[in-house]
Amino acid sequence: MTPRFSTDVHNAIPVYVVAKGAAYPDLTATQRNWVKATGFSGALGEVALLPDDGRISGVLIGFGTDATRARGRFHLAIAAQKLPAGVYRISSGIDDLANEALGWLLSNYRFSKYAKTGVVKAELVAPEGVDAARIEAMVAGECLTRDLINIPASDMGPDALEAAFRKLGADHNAEVSVITGDDLLTQNFPMIHAVGRASDQAPRLLDMRWGEANAPTVTLVGKGVCFDTGGLNIKPGASMGLMKKDMGGSANVMGLAHMIMTLGLNIRLRVLVPAVENSISAGAFRPQDILTSRKGLTVEINNTDAEGRLVLADALALADEETPDLMICMATLTGAARVALGPDLPPFFADSDALATEISASGIANADPLWRMPFWEPYEGDIEPGIADLDNAPKGGMAGAITAALFLRRFVENTPNFVHFDIYGWIPAAKPARPKGGACQGSRALLSVIENRFCSNKPCSVDHAAGTPFTNIEQYP
Ligand code: BES
Ligand code: ZN
Ligand code: ZN
Repeated sequence: MTPRFSTDVHNAIPVYVVAKGAAYPDLTATQRNWVKATGFSGALGEVALLPDDGRISGVLIGFGTDATRARGRFHLAIAAQKLPAGVYRISSGIDDLANEALGWLLSNYRFSKYAKTGVVKAELVAPEGVDAARIEAMVAGECLTRDLINIPASDMGPDALEAAFRKLGADHNAEVSVITGDDLLTQNFPMIHAVGRASDQAPRLLDMRWGEANAPTVTLVGKGVCFDTGGLNIKPGASMGLMKKDMGGSANVMGLAHMIMTLGLNIRLRVLVPAVENSISAGAFRPQDILTSRKGLTVEINNTDAEGRLVLADALALADEETPDLMICMATLTGAARVALGPDLPPFFADSDALATEISASGIANADPLWRMPFWEPYEGDIEPGIADLDNAPKGGMAGAITAALFLRRFVENTPNFVHFDIYGWIPAAKPARPKGGACQGSRALLSVIENRFCSNKPCSVDHAAGTPFTNIEQYP
């Protein structure tokens, strides 16, 4: 179930947020003595319940210091999971109410498809002044993303991913079309077919359109590899262990699409997901095969485990044929991106400095951090093998996230505002409001970017002047 705000305002218990060492709010003498006796110091995530005639009349939540808060994102969420069952309302003490309320709701996500999980105890009333509908839409999108990733490949193969995609479309009156199996060959998506043909579940391209035909066009493309064995270049067990999450790009674009459509943004949206399983059988594609892509570029396969860029290439080529105003690609594309920045800070690649600056600033504003990396032209030669136009897996793997991004960009010729996110799609160890498992990354940042670029009726929530270091490609030597 998707967490939502409670509407039970009258019974809500007030929450006083107190930074470390700061004065307590107005309390009775008994309450003040009680709080002192509990040892409450205002440390991040600390909780003190205020008694009043046998019931809880309020709670203090510690907000820590600038330094402790800088290590995380959702600070009230820590305490929210310690509170007794009840409905709460934030009474005082913080500036960034919207993100803290978002974090509180996100901390109430449970993945309960296969086992009884802890019940939700502390509900929150929407704080005054926040856009509650927008926060709930973001939470719903993020929970959809988490669920899609958390469901294992046994129940989230290409068939099930298609069903989830169709359900999303039906929920929002979008048009959905799907090209499956050998039709991918007749309709010229040869690389999606080659990667997915070894599986018992046919490869397919999922396509959704929504919104007014004459509105600004935004196309989302997400990697939908429902399980990545590596193919004939089979992954070792430890590397294969998490590969149910290799459809994390598709789960993220579907979550973002859910946010956009729920909020009714005035854009023309298209969502494309190549949905395949990178499996092993007699029909599997092989190392040294040369594939001809939709775009006509030939690709030498030097590793069947570099399959994401192949299926995305055909989908991106299709998207680029209609030159959308903004094109976003999200994919669990390379291990190299993780080595560079770790699981919580996805790199993104964009040619437009203006777009990149907006994305970086929006990531900070929305507690959805992202870091720009370059489409580094001098490495273009690394993806050119000689006997074909492109190499899917350059030897040595140096700058693996960059060479993968450059590979994708070869299939985007017409669309200047193209951005690619190499996400991890997974939270390896639980953090406040972010349980271990499938992760939504970049979607909330992108929602703001889309609102600010195309929906001028929305107030701009991003401080464009703020930027982040290293966002301007000119700074690279
Ligand atoms: N799905 C993986 C990338 C991946 C691995 C993402 C681990 C997150 C965590 C992708 O299909 C892959 O295997 N890429 C290879 C490419 C290489 C063979 C050029 C990689 O990154 O090792
Ligand atoms: Zn792979
Ligand atoms: Zn993969």
